[in-house]
Amino acid sequence: MRLTVINGPNLNLLAAREPELYGRATLGEIESLVQAEAIRLGVQLEWFQSNDEGALVDLIQALPGRADGLILNAAAYTHTSLALRDALLAVRVPFVEVHLSNVFAREKARRRSMMADLAIGVIAGFGPHSYLLALRALHARLANV
Ligand code: DQA
Repeated sequence: MRLTVINGPNLNLLAAREPELYGRATLGEIESLVQAEAIRLGVQLEWFQSNDEGALVDLIQALPGRADGLILNAAAYTHTSLALRDALLAVRVPFVEVHLSNVFAREKARRRSMMADLAIGVIAGFGPHSYLLALRALHARLANV
C-alpha cells in the first residue's frame, strides 16, 4: 500500500512555533515516528511539506496512480482553501484530515474546515500521535481489516 502525507504552511517551523500548542517535536521527528509505523504496517509512505497553496494543489493533483490514500494536515489552508477542496474533489483519493491541536477547541475560524466533509475522518488534538492514528486508521480502511 502506498500512502502520502502532505503538510501545509508553517508546519516546517514545528518545535520552534508555539510549542505550547503544537509541541516540541520537529516535523522531521514526526516524520521519523510515522515512517517507523509505516514500515511496521508494510506501507510505502511519501512525506511532503509546502508553504505554498499552489504547490499543495499540485501535490494533490499528482496523487492518482502514485498513492492509495492521503493523510492531510493542510494547516491554515484547512480553514480557507477552496482550491485545496477542489483538488481533493477532482482526484477523489481517500484521505484523513489531521491536526496536531484540537482545532474544535480553538478560535471560531479554526472550527471550520473546507475539506472535512470530503474526508474519511478527522483526527485532531493528539499532537504527533494524530498522524500515527491517521496512518493506522487509513491503513485499516484501505486494507479492509
Ligand atoms: C493545525 C491547526 C491549524 O488551525 C493551524 O493553522 C496550523 C496547524 C494543527 O495541526 O493543529 O498551522 O493544522
